[in-house]
Formats: sequence, structure tokens, C-alpha cells
Amino acid sequence: MNYKILLPLIFFGLLFACSGNNSSTKNTSPSAIGKKLLIDNCGACHNLPSGNPTGVAPSFLAIKQSYSSTSLEQFQEDMIQFIAQPSKEGSKMKQAVQEYGLMPKMGFNESDIRSIANYLYNTDLENFESQENDSLPEKVTINALEERKQLALKTKSILGKNLMKAIKEYGPEGAISFCNEKALFLTDSMAQELHAKIKRVTNKPRNSQNQATEREILILNSLGLAENAGGMLKQVEGKKIGYFKIETNEMCLKCHGNLTENISKKTAEKISQLYPNDQAIGYKSNELRGMWVVELLGK
Ligand code: HEC
Ligand code: HEC
Repeated sequence: MNYKILLPLIFFGLLFACSGNNSSTKNTSPSAIGKKLLIDNCGACHNLPSGNPTGVAPSFLAIKQSYSSTSLEQFQEDMIQFIAQPSKEGSKMKQAVQEYGLMPKMGFNESDIRSIANYLYNTDLENFESQENDSLPEKVTINALEERKQLALKTKSILGKNLMKAIKEYGPEGAISFCNEKALFLTDSMAQELHAKIKRVTNKPRNSQNQATEREILILNSLGLAENAGGMLKQVEGKKIGYFKIETNEMCLKCHGNLTENISKKTAEKISQLYPNDQAIGYKSNELRGMWVVELLGK
């Protein structure tokens, strides 16, 4: 066990143990929670120490070096600011933006980013040992809505990683085939792994299997309201189902944007070949594209 890592964990654990204001979680140190949130939400694209096995994003060690802030609060604010609205101008890692493309906007919670930043700030990534993973808290108590949201975000990050990778390797027109073959498969296998039913549905589907039902379209419309920005939980036939919006960012427009401005001719041809009844174009950035529907099996 590496005490350099453990000591700050224990220290912050004690420091915050009694404050009781940690949004949705209880009985676990904020640093440990931050680590779990990081692995679930960011781990598909970013790894912790140096090296870059994912091939789609810089490591957190590299990020930490570029975000060298004088205080934890500043470090947290810097991260929150970028992640809320990733942009080339706001980036502290212009070279990474050039190499990998801009990080997609993913709708993470501010309080979750705060916990993740707390963990990163207090962990010695230069001497990081992966065996230290053993100390992960398995059971973190969170409410029903958050529990389902975490699964949606985790699935989104896996899809996002694979999509970024496919675009980088084959360009948007080549990545269409990837989505065609892999999007449903990846969603289903994540669902299986997470012991849940997970769907992506929309009122304007590309693949008709993702068509929202009439009931779901009503929910989708309410997700567009500001008060439902964090998602909605509904009781359906005795089951608690979570609904979370999917919004577009710049990256999506290559395949869901405007035919004259965003989508190349080659990509458009590929789309109409695979999806003759495609309705999923004409979007701009930050528009409601659809939603995640998450049901936990056995709950
Ligand atoms: C779908 C892949 C993906 C996921 C998931 C992801 N990122 Fe990123 N991130 C990227 C890419 C690509 C870059 C490099 C380009 C850039 O800087 O925008 C990046 C860059 C960053 C940067 C540096 C931004 C800058 O340029 O100043 C920070 C900070 C960051 N990510 C934090 C996070 C955190 C925290 C999470 C999890 C809550 C996360 N990322 C999840 C892909 C991802
Ligand atoms: C490389 C092209 C490409 C990019 C980029 C892309 N998509 Fe898609 N998208 C597709 C294809 C192809 C499908 C159909 C997948 C299938 O057959 O299951 C799809 C399906 C979807 C669906 C399921 C509903 C439907 O219409 O079938 C959603 C939701 C979605 N995309 C959202 C997004 C968002 C949000 C982004 C940006 C973060 C994005 N997409 C980026 C190609 C793309």
C-alpha cells in the first residue's frame, strides 16, 4: 500500500467526515467518492497516470500538470468551468484539443466534478500505483435518480469514447458504420454489465428502433424544461425509471447537423444508404436530441 496516496485520503476523509453536506452521498470520504465518480464517468477516455492507453484523451496526470492551481478551490472552479462548456478558447491544453479534438460536452453534475477535482488535487499521480484500486468503495449510497443517472453517464462515456476513436480513425463517414453496428450493441452490453435496462430514444430517430413511444415523447418534452435539467424519475408499472436528456454538442453536428453546413457529402451518402428514413438531421449545438431511459433490474 502506498502511504503517500493513503494519507491524504485519510486526512480528507476525517476533515469532511462530519460536515454532512456532501450532496447525494453518505458515510464515505469525498476523495473516495471522487475516485469512484472519476472512474465511472471519465475513465473511459482518461486514465490516471501518464501514458495513454485509451488513445482518445490525455491522462489526468497531464491534465493536472496543465491545471496547476494554487488552491483546491481554484482547481475545482477551473475544471467546472471548462467541463460545463468545453471550448478551444477556454482550454488550458490547446495541444490536446488539436490532437484529440475538443472534449464533448456531457452534462456532468457540478458537485460531481467538485468531488473528482478534490480527488485529483489530493492524489499523487506521479507515484500512482494501480493496485491502489482495491480501496474503492463498492457501495456508495445515492438517491434513486442519481443512481440511474450514473448508469446513463457511464454508458454515454463509453459510447462517446468509441465514437471519438472511430471518427479519429475513419472520419465521420467511416464512423457512421461504427454507430450502425455498435451503438445498440454497446448500449446493451453496458446495460448487461450494469444490471439494468438502458435505451436511447428520440422523437426524430435515425434508427427506427430508437423511436420514443408517445408517453416517452411527453417526458422528453418536459426534460427540455429548466427545472428538469437534472433528469426525471417516474414510477411506471411499479418500476422506478430514470429519464435523462441527451443534448447535442459540436461533435454531433458532423452527423446530425445541417446538410449544407455541417455534414459532408460523403457522410450524407453513407447515412442515406444505411438509414433511408433518417430523421436525425438539422440539429444545432445544445439542442435536445433525445433521452436515456434507465431501469434497474430487480428494483
Ligand atoms: C468521451 C471522452 C471523454 C470523457 C468521458 C471525458 N473526457 Fe475529458 N477530455 C476528452 C478529450 C478528447 C480531451 C482533450 C481535448 C480537450 O482538452 O478538450 C479532454 C480534456 C479534458 C480536460 C482538459 C481540458 C482543457 O483543454 O483545458 C479536463 C479538465 C477534462 N477532460 C476533465 C474530464 C473529467 C473530469 C471527466 C469526467 C467527469 C472527463 N473529462 C470525461 C474526452 C473525454
Ligand atoms: C459519426 C457520425 C455520428 C456522430 C458524430 C454522432 N452520431 Fe448519433 N447516431 C449516428 C448513427 C449512425 C446513429 C444510428 C445508430 C444505430 O443504428 O443504432 C445515431 C444515433 C443516435 C441516437 C439514437 C437515436 C436515433 O436517432 O437513432 C442519439 C440519441 C444520438 N445519435 C445522439 C448523438 C449525439 C448527442 C452526438 C454527439 C455527442 C452524436 N449522436 C454524434 C451517427 C453519429
